[in-house]
Amino acid sequence: MTVSHLPTNQDLDPGRLREAFGVFPSGVVAVAAEVDGELVGLAASSFTSVSLEPALVSFSVANSSKTWPTLRRSGHLGVTILADHHDDVCRQLAGPVASRFDGLAVTTTDDGATLLDEGLARFDCTIYREVEAGDHTIVLLELHAVEHETTSSPLVFHRSGFGRLAG
Ligand SMILES: Cc1cc2nc3c(=O)[nH]c(=O)nc-3n(C[C@H](O)[C@H](O)[C@H](O)COP(=O)(O)O)c2cc1C
Repeated sequence: MTVSHLPTNQDLDPGRLREAFGVFPSGVVAVAAEVDGELVGLAASSFTSVSLEPALVSFSVANSSKTWPTLRRSGHLGVTILADHHDDVCRQLAGPVASRFDGLAVTTTDDGATLLDEGLARFDCTIYREVEAGDHTIVLLELHAVEHETTSSPLVFHRSGFGRLAG
């Protein structure tokens, strides 16, 4: 068997890395809360399930995020898994802060977690731990309540574009 090696001394510039990372498909979530009477949140494709006991999920947030310092102050955070028709909603949640929630049907819990009514799954979370990881922070979230539906398909983010599951 021939073993081929990856070329060494490559320039791992951000553009090249972004393209390589983008080969891996992912879902997209909305992380949101009501803080000081305002809805704050962002779209994140770095969501991952982590642990069953305790119930943990994670996402990574860029250290350049202007929203995260406010969002993390909320007692509870809402995480909603976006459905396949949410491509525009996703762009909106990643766009100008002032209009991120315009026209969106959301519900905010008494603890401040904001969830999208049309999501595929909804998680009510608190921050369990934040782990510095280069230019991002890995945010581990502990789940306090979950609900999900099985009838719709998720939004898929792949190679910088949106897609749907085939079939
Ligand atoms: C499909 C998609 C996935 C994204 N995933 C992440 C992510 O995992 N982590 C992150 O920090 N930002 C992610 N973003 C960018 C944020 O949604 C948002 O645009 C960014 O945080 C800048 O806004 P802010 O400064 O208000 O935080 C993603 C954007 C899009 C469109």
